[in-house]
Amino acid sequence: MYQIVYISKANVAPSDTDLAETLTQFRAFNHSQAITGLLLFTGSYYFQVLEGDEGTIAPLYTKICDDARHHNVQIVDRGPINERAFANWAMGYGEITEASLAPLRAQLAEDKQHDGNHRAGVVQETAALIRQFMADYSADASNSDFVIP
Ligand SMILES: Cc1cc2nc3c(=O)[nH]c(=O)nc-3n(C[C@H](O)[C@H](O)[C@H](O)COP(=O)(O)O)c2cc1C
Repeated sequence: MYQIVYISKANVAPSDTDLAETLTQFRAFNHSQAITGLLLFTGSYYFQVLEGDEGTIAPLYTKICDDARHHNVQIVDRGPINERAFANWAMGYGEITEASLAPLRAQLAEDKQHDGNHRAGVVQETAALIRQFMADYSADASNSDFVIP
């Protein structure tokens, strides 16, 4: 099992209708490839976690990097994982404030990357975003869109 986490900047904020449509498409594809994960959106930045076999995640990530709907795609973390964090979501979706993403963006900023605590800060801020999503959304089983068989 493999995971890629990145943040990016939206080129144009999608309308709610566009977003609903694209999420439906993403989920259909992800479901077919046993890809799970999380997409958070601030209105101008995306934060995404992709989980699945490396052989399916890596090509999807390449396509996502080339997607004209966003730019400045920046890896937060990538590597093997023991188990899925989002087994119930083909692509969980949450809206967050720009302020919620600011600490992670600060950790990823160039000047922090020479700091000895950089990696620990990134891990901590990523975990905080995921915890917040779980607190806001996972209690509601109807929000789950996929269960790995
Ligand atoms: C922020 C963002 C997240 C995306 N997440 C997914 C995803 O989880 N699953 C997916 O199939 N496509 C996702 N896409 C869309 C892909 O970039 C791509 O358009 C899609 O895989 C279809 O590619 P194709 O037409 O070349 O097959 C995402 C795009 C953006 C901008």
